[in-house]
Amino acid sequence: MSEPARIGVVGMGTVGSGVVRVLQQSADHIERQAGRPIVVEHATVSDLTKPRSVELPRDRLGTELAAIADNPAISIAAMLVGGLEPARTMTIELLRKGKNVVTANKALLAEHGPELFAVAQATGRSVSFEAAIAGGIPIVAAIAECLAANRIESIRGILNGTSNFILTRMEEDGSNYADVLAVAQAEGYAEADPTMDVDGTDATQKLALLAHLAFGVWVPWATIPRVGLETIDQELLRFADELGYRIRVVADASREDGKLAMRVGPTLVRKGTPLAETRGAFNAVSVVGDAVGPLFFHGLGAGELPTASAVVADIIDTVVGRAAITFRTTGMLEADTPAASLTGGSSSRYLLRLHVTDRPGVLADLTNVLGSEGISIASVIQHQTAAGTAAVPLVIMTHSCEATAIARAVATLDQQPAVQAATSCLPVLDD
Ligand code: NAP
Ligand code: HSE
Repeated sequence: MSEPARIGVVGMGTVGSGVVRVLQQSADHIERQAGRPIVVEHATVSDLTKPRSVELPRDRLGTELAAIADNPAISIAAMLVGGLEPARTMTIELLRKGKNVVTANKALLAEHGPELFAVAQATGRSVSFEAAIAGGIPIVAAIAECLAANRIESIRGILNGTSNFILTRMEEDGSNYADVLAVAQAEGYAEADPTMDVDGTDATQKLALLAHLAFGVWVPWATIPRVGLETIDQELLRFADELGYRIRVVADASREDGKLAMRVGPTLVRKGTPLAETRGAFNAVSVVGDAVGPLFFHGLGAGELPTASAVVADIIDTVVGRAAITFRTTGMLEADTPAASLTGGSSSRYLLRLHVTDRPGVLADLTNVLGSEGISIASVIQHQTAAGTAAVPLVIMTHSCEATAIARAVATLDQQPAVQAATSCLPVLDD
């Protein structure tokens, strides 16, 4: 029998436990895929007293990274600790000690990717991160390998399972935001700090990594326009439904006039389109390549086993030598590629929801603001309310306009005396 490949697992939370479970449960199948057995030589956690959902011999579980980094029998480390530190320092230590690294930590890569890839290059090791983007969907392999012949025109997707889970439960059964977030946490979908899920940070970090793969430019994630879920309420979901749309947090990157148009945020997606039908913790990614045309990927974007599926695939790729080739050829090593020139997002139609004083002349004042920015109105909804109601919801659907024009218009609308609360502004996707 071939000598086993011995791996270290750093972090045995949701993802780490899933990786050990898959390696144990599918050992025979994985051995056939990798050409030799893959065994967990050692795993580390921060708290040895916590109960674990998978069994490892007591002498294979510890708290010291050195038990993996300094073990010459271990060639691959699955780095499954979240956050920036100590994850960054640990990853550098593992690479310097000659381990190939497989990680699911997109925050770490989006923040410190160039530094980590440079250390890997200097030490002749690879960093693989299929699990860091869209969970179980093999989007990294698709873009880096299968679509290598294509110039990618655009990437659009739902990249955060937790926010999609929350939105679809609010939409389908009127669930309360805080209650559904608690369920997403219990299911293991959410980050340790779920703020990163609901404020759009996590999806934006994934989009930045995808843009590096697809467009060959390193976009600092914090420069990408980003809006979170906090702006969405039941009233907006009802208006969207009435107009024939769902609301999804969509991450969008496309080439436009030599620039990259990128944004992340709640978006109206037409009912019946694939993004509108992406529910629960599912993610979706649509990619347009110049040769292949449009492609659509759909699958679970978070959770123990879908994420472990991607991590274990990377481990197998590392064992058979594919990861080293992909890592050298993806362009991820070109950390000094010029930052992309960003626009504030591509042109589109927009839905505006305002809360306004119900008195004569208000609608004319508001439409004048839009007209002065050259924004044309497609439809307006104002439902009749009881006389004397202080503020009434008013929904305006625009024709297509530039992101910068609608941003200026919203800023002006919010200064109008009749506008009682911050205006919600959501792009609209019809295809
Ligand atoms: P998690 O459940 O919080 O697990 C984190 C693990 O890291 C825990 O086992 C923790 O130990 C361990 N840990 C923390 N500090 C450590 C240290 N200094 N040394 C050794 N172990 C340490 O997180 P997760 O959900 O598995 O996520 C892990 C990574 O995968 C994150 O970067 C996340 O963004 C990413 N990710 C998660 C999912 C998902 O669906 N959950 C999907 C894709 C990507 P204790 O158990 O003792 O506390
Ligand atoms: N918290 C992330 C999500 C995990 O909900 O999508 C997967 O990256």
